[in-house]
Amino acid sequence: MDTIICKISNDEKENDKIFEKAANILKVGGLVAFPTETVYGLGGNALDCNAAKKIYQAKGRPSDNPLIVHIANVEDLEKLAVEIPREAYMLANEFWPGPLTMVLKKSGIVPKEITGGLETVAIRMPSHKTAEGMIKKSGLYIAAPSANTSGRPSPTKAKYVIEDLAGRVDMIIADDTIEVGIESTIVDLSEGVPTILRPGGITKEMLEAVLGKVQIDKAIEEGNLLSGSIVPKAPGMKYRHYAPKASLLLVEGDEADVVNKINELVAYDKKNGLKVAVMTTDEHANKYPNVIVKSLGKRADEASIARHLFEALREFDDLEVEKIYSESFSKDNIGQAIMNRLLKAAGHSVITA
Ligand code: TXA
Ligand code: MG
Repeated sequence: MDTIICKISNDEKENDKIFEKAANILKVGGLVAFPTETVYGLGGNALDCNAAKKIYQAKGRPSDNPLIVHIANVEDLEKLAVEIPREAYMLANEFWPGPLTMVLKKSGIVPKEITGGLETVAIRMPSHKTAEGMIKKSGLYIAAPSANTSGRPSPTKAKYVIEDLAGRVDMIIADDTIEVGIESTIVDLSEGVPTILRPGGITKEMLEAVLGKVQIDKAIEEGNLLSGSIVPKAPGMKYRHYAPKASLLLVEGDEADVVNKINELVAYDKKNGLKVAVMTTDEHANKYPNVIVKSLGKRADEASIARHLFEALREFDDLEVEKIYSESFSKDNIGQAIMNRLLKAAGHSVITA
């Protein structure tokens, strides 16, 4: 399959033509990869079972792992979901458009092919202008998982979407203006206490400020995710995502101890002829001599750490490193989402310095 690749620019008229082209593809059941404020998505018509099948195929994704439906108007919530609780409107009011996905009871029009057979549907209204422009132009609801091959880090740059999906989708819209860099927060409002199924840029504290009590799905707490003793409610959370090709080890502890420990491990691996890299922050970037170093940004600026995380993992793949040592991060605020992704990428290999 030939894949059309279009780049968004400052020229509104040109961009409009791109949206039109994408809309025409989506309307006939084709697939378009597009940017959102979190990561790139792989979009298809959410009400078309055949488009859903193509999405799973293009990603190589297990079909029991449901897709998020993206909308461009808040009112569409009522077309896709039923028995919508007050909390959903409160959250939509505060955080939409933006990096928040809500799980609600699905309406009759939502095919089970996109919900992985579940009676609920995940809905998100993205804030990215390109996503909005494309969805509006199509007049459709757009089912979109992250635009990576299943198991690889979610793409935050067009070149990685092209790497994973060129030849497998009809069109890729390139627009590397992605702000958040990790996937949306998923909150389940379909029963009981609102529950975070996947941490993201909208933190538990931010949700609590609007709703009062919010809980986190027990299955995604560190120990439980590792032991697999409880099944996560978001089916996707059970897979080992974001895996770089190299083995990744997280090193925790006091800052100075961590730096020393990593340098020690690097020296040992290098002696054994391994290609090694270190993932760190601006504060420590010059403390690792003689090794490939990637800084994710300033430790104090957690948003920048989140924004660069997946890109760094992909860059390590490009460099064909065999071992990655990463500093660990605070689990407060967006740090919770960062550590959730890092721990998954590391297959939960953590040591304390
Ligand atoms: O930021 C994002 O959410 C990105 C962009 C493209 O919007 N999308 C994304 O989609 O991360 P994906 O498919 O990579 O992750 C969707 C997650 C999976 O873990 C899936 O299991 C969960 O959402 N999910 C979808 N529908 C669900 C449902 N009805 N109940 C529980 N979990 C659901
Ligand atoms: Mg994904």
